[in-house]
Amino acid sequence: MNMYEIIEAKASGRELTSEQIRFTVKGFTDAEIPDYQMSAWLMAVLWRGMSARETSDLTRAMTESGEVVDLSGINGIVSDKHSTGGVGDKTSMALVPLVAACGGKVAKMSGRGLGHTGGTIDKLESIPGFKVELPIDQFIAQVNRIGCAIIGASKNVAPADKKMYALRDVTATVGSIPLMASSIMAKKLASGSDAIVLDVKCGSGAFMKSVDQARILAKAMMSIGIANGKKMAAFITNMDVPLGTAIGNGLEVVEVIETLKGQGPADLTHECLEIGSYLLSLSGFGTPENCYIQAEAALSDGRALKKFAEMIEAQGGDSSVIEDYSILLGNPASIEVRALRDGYITKMDTEKIGMCSVSLGAGRSKITDPLDYHAGITILHKTGDQVKTGDTLAILYAANPDLLEPATDNYLKTLTFGDKMVASEKLVFDILR
Ligand code: URA
Repeated sequence: MNMYEIIEAKASGRELTSEQIRFTVKGFTDAEIPDYQMSAWLMAVLWRGMSARETSDLTRAMTESGEVVDLSGINGIVSDKHSTGGVGDKTSMALVPLVAACGGKVAKMSGRGLGHTGGTIDKLESIPGFKVELPIDQFIAQVNRIGCAIIGASKNVAPADKKMYALRDVTATVGSIPLMASSIMAKKLASGSDAIVLDVKCGSGAFMKSVDQARILAKAMMSIGIANGKKMAAFITNMDVPLGTAIGNGLEVVEVIETLKGQGPADLTHECLEIGSYLLSLSGFGTPENCYIQAEAALSDGRALKKFAEMIEAQGGDSSVIEDYSILLGNPASIEVRALRDGYITKMDTEKIGMCSVSLGAGRSKITDPLDYHAGITILHKTGDQVKTGDTLAILYAANPDLLEPATDNYLKTLTFGDKMVASEKLVFDILR
């Protein structure tokens, strides 16, 4: 077997055998197949696609490239949630303690931000002292003790995906459905949970631009999970506008705390309750409708907020941030972005808004870039809002004041204005179960 023939077979539209897929993944992980051949293979997959069997083989080969975490030491059904990535998506941070406050067990492994999307691990690190690396036995013990933990995925979880993802990122092959489905599901299968709720983002700020594409991706991931004995559900949610009003690490943690205090934005609160209800339902706490009521109660009586404080303390963080936001917000330079005309906001280019927050220092262009935890954007008006000339549309924050002027122009360019009102779009397009 050789890589030239495998590339040629896929480029000609032929189905690869299980052996050919294993050979490709193992060879690339072990550095026997060079980047240029793997790039050609990835591009061939992007153009020619993969059958369900090939996607499942690819997932298995990537899962088996590293360790499969054994969470059997956790009592009860262990649940996990995964978002395909969005702007202002801080759902996991609120959802995990919310589900644990209702009795669920959530062992969450999260990633860092790259490109226009943020990452839960970076956001949590804006809390002083918060440790995102825990040995697996401590991770398990914490979930048994308080019901939840969020850590960064270990280097040994699906190492093939780490290498392949880095290459996809620079060869314009991220957007392939079989490559995305196998990348996400390999990590989920290796992370060892029993029940998984996927949040497939769709719209201008997501990898999937249409609901149809998002549904195909969701179905592909659900089938892989079900074939591997996992309880699965998938949401298709709107990423045509950022989620909530805060983008940036410290700012997003503050918005999560506000949400857990019952004072968060309606879209974020609703999404946390909806996804939380499915995590609880898959964990055996009743129907999604009944679990929604349980989650609402944990939010309104303060149990979810208390659980978040417990999780911060258990992971070495300073839980006084819950009452005093000064460390999370810092004292950055800021500028108000003002409307240049009267009218309605008819569209937001959410990917570009994410890039605008990256340019302020809230995200990375390269994996080695340092983060400014206080940089970011507070959005005051979204699609559907009527504004007048001079109204403040957003506030931008950065430690370096020189970054603010160019970001203001860029932010304004992400917005489309019109004279007619547009209906605000649905938050959840579909739920697959
Ligand atoms: N997130 C992942 O983990 N993998 C992808 O391929 C896309 C988004």
